[in-house]
Amino acid sequence: MADTHFEYHDLHPTPADFAAEVLAGLRRRPRYIPPKFFYDAEGSRLFEAITELPEYYPTRTEVGILQERAGEIARRVGTGGLLVEPGGASPAKARVLLDGLQPCAYVPMDISREHLWLAADQVAAEYPWLEVHAACTDFTRLLEVPPAAPTGTRVAFFPGSSIGNFDPEDAVGFLATVAELVRPSGFLLIGVDLKKDPARLEAAYDDAAGITAAFNLNLLARMNRELDADFDLEAWRHRARYDADRGRVEMHLVSRRAQTVQVAGVPFDFAADETIHTENSYKYGVEEFQALARRAGFVPETVWLDADRLFSVHLFAVESD
Ligand code: AVJ
Repeated sequence: MADTHFEYHDLHPTPADFAAEVLAGLRRRPRYIPPKFFYDAEGSRLFEAITELPEYYPTRTEVGILQERAGEIARRVGTGGLLVEPGGASPAKARVLLDGLQPCAYVPMDISREHLWLAADQVAAEYPWLEVHAACTDFTRLLEVPPAAPTGTRVAFFPGSSIGNFDPEDAVGFLATVAELVRPSGFLLIGVDLKKDPARLEAAYDDAAGITAAFNLNLLARMNRELDADFDLEAWRHRARYDADRGRVEMHLVSRRAQTVQVAGVPFDFAADETIHTENSYKYGVEEFQALARRAGFVPETVWLDADRLFSVHLFAVESD
């Protein structure tokens, strides 16, 4: 495209099949629909609203840590490298780092072509000195830097405690592919939400204004819109609970009564109080997360916390093979 000033690379995005995954998930027990399906246009808008809620401390706490430590991060990883961001279609957090880090290139990766395109365009316009290589890919399946991107020390940036959506074993597997991506001498800068008082955690996922409830219930509305489903939104409610044994906040949609719902022509019977599990959000202690990252091939460099110890930003160096 003549008017763009970033490189676009189509790395074989394999869009998930919403209908097939929903039908398979509703047939399972317990019923489960993965959280990646929250993010249609309405869900993405609701998530942005969540990040501004008084109860939802992760976003503003992490941004505060990154702002305070940007200079130190730059000193530790060096300037002139590549900042690679899986899921980087809303680079507000990368912006906090770019001026201090002075990378030679920024490589956002995302499955949503439109979001990625807009984000890449904005970053390229704001940072004329920066090469932007947007890679359209499902980063959970394929993680690779586009061949046309410059060479340099690679810094993978994975903010927002997005790692919390993976079960710990899957998190190790994902981080091992990130380790491959940044070898031989790169880094991982990752934001991880910390274990804390369950009441504080549950408030963050069940806010007083009901935005998180709307975010969760939007999944039913999305099935109505896209899969010709007939969920009655009044017949479902949002539930968020911290399971201290598993170290995770679970979100569920709870059926208020016995009911039958059609989804893509298939009837599903729900008992009263039966749930659809929609998200896990794992929380970690500092050493606990370092141990997990070590299993993936990373060596802890340092970790920064906010004064209230709500959130952690870890810097890891990749272990040489
Ligand atoms: C985007 C996965 C990091 O788990 O805190 C926020 C998603 N869900 N409120 C999180 C989310 C409900 C969020 N992550």
